[in-house]
Amino acid sequence: LDNGLMRTPPMGWLAWERFRCDIDCQNDPKNCISEVLFRDMADRLAEDGWRELGYVYVNIDDCWAAMDRDSNGRLQADPKRFPSGIPKLASYIHDRGLKLGIYGDMGTLTCGGYPGTPLDKITIDAQTFADWKVDMLKFDGCYSNATEQEQGEEGRRVGGMSKGRVGMDILKVETTGDKWFTQPSAACLTQTLFFLIGYPAMSKALNATGRPIGYSCSWPAYQGGLPPKVNYTQLGEICNLWRNYGDIEDSWNSVLSIADWFFNNQDVLQPAAGPGRWNDPDMLVVGDFGLSMDQSRSQMAMWAIMAAPLFMSNDLRTISSGARTILQNKVAIGINQDPMGVQGRRLIKEKSGIEVFWRPLSDKASALVFFSRRTDMPYRYQTSLGQLNYTTGSYKIYDVFAEREMPTLKDSTHFVVSINPSGVVMWYISAPAGQDQENTHVGGKL
Ligand code: GLA
Repeated sequence: LDNGLMRTPPMGWLAWERFRCDIDCQNDPKNCISEVLFRDMADRLAEDGWRELGYVYVNIDDCWAAMDRDSNGRLQADPKRFPSGIPKLASYIHDRGLKLGIYGDMGTLTCGGYPGTPLDKITIDAQTFADWKVDMLKFDGCYSNATEQEQGEEGRRVGGMSKGRVGMDILKVETTGDKWFTQPSAACLTQTLFFLIGYPAMSKALNATGRPIGYSCSWPAYQGGLPPKVNYTQLGEICNLWRNYGDIEDSWNSVLSIADWFFNNQDVLQPAAGPGRWNDPDMLVVGDFGLSMDQSRSQMAMWAIMAAPLFMSNDLRTISSGARTILQNKVAIGINQDPMGVQGRRLIKEKSGIEVFWRPLSDKASALVFFSRRTDMPYRYQTSLGQLNYTTGSYKIYDVFAEREMPTLKDSTHFVVSINPSGVVMWYISAPAGQDQENTHVGGKL
């Protein structure tokens, strides 16, 4: 979306994976979804070195709203858990040089069962968020057709579009010709139509408020994430980022299955990304309970290659220094935030279980990630830059997680990297030392 925002992938913190829909503030006051939690995280982002590295969004997810709209039909925060209200929270966050994100849903209810934003509420909700000085909206897609509501959980997830009654009036208004009638199920078709109307409508409504609000769309995740149902050209015009796939969980299995889906579909997904429009493989779970240190580096490395939004969902009040070091790795962040904004790709998938990922960066630099799916021992992988599509030259290499310069490598030189089980080796590779650079260098010395 060309709204001047998120020219590099957005970074910050998002409540969902770690704090879910914990609304029990009586018994769990530190962890429940309340203004206390978001103020705490804002304090940590501002005071523990995160903000300076680019982690500036403090994002509310589901379960923040009161069950009813106010007398003017506007959404309102739960008065018990957000007694000061969202505008006060926004100014607390802005005072610390941070930004506030909020969550809504293109349907009758949010995924957690809180009030959603059906078509007729899009304008008023966009205006409410702008009035509150919100900086980003995640717009989810549960309960986006009439039948889902009756079917509950079953009807709500990826690929879970349900059969049932068709919203006939919407159909009559919006169909042109019979192309829609080739779709398999009526309810599926209704949802597609709701999405085709609702997500662009919210994009326009946010724009019309005049407030810069980053826009995250969950639409593709509800449509299977692939063409022909998902049109990535159109998405890039409407949204700053989008969830393509299912929800991340606090486990290596979940991280790996998400990464696999994105790299298996890279021919479709990779060209869709660019400044202002990003694929979103979901939150970083580094710092939680499910990943080892090696797996944490793997998530960070793969998310950097994918030019993924970096929204941590962890407890910044208690995070280990090991996890913090990984999340605060300057070169990994720099690769993720490269201004050219070209998403990387998987180059090689070896029978041995080694995979190599590559991302081109500005100033003719690049990043390489050597990843091991093995479960036995560190694997000594032998290759050369020439075998990885590097052209003639000699390259300066920085090992991102070891945090050290490596000896210069010629494209033809064979080398060995030792990759831990479910771990990575990540390299930042500078432009080859060319004639020009050498001349300049010598000239400088003289
Ligand atoms: C969906 C989204 C999640 C989260 C929950 C909240 O499952 O994909 O990221 O927002 O809803 O209920």
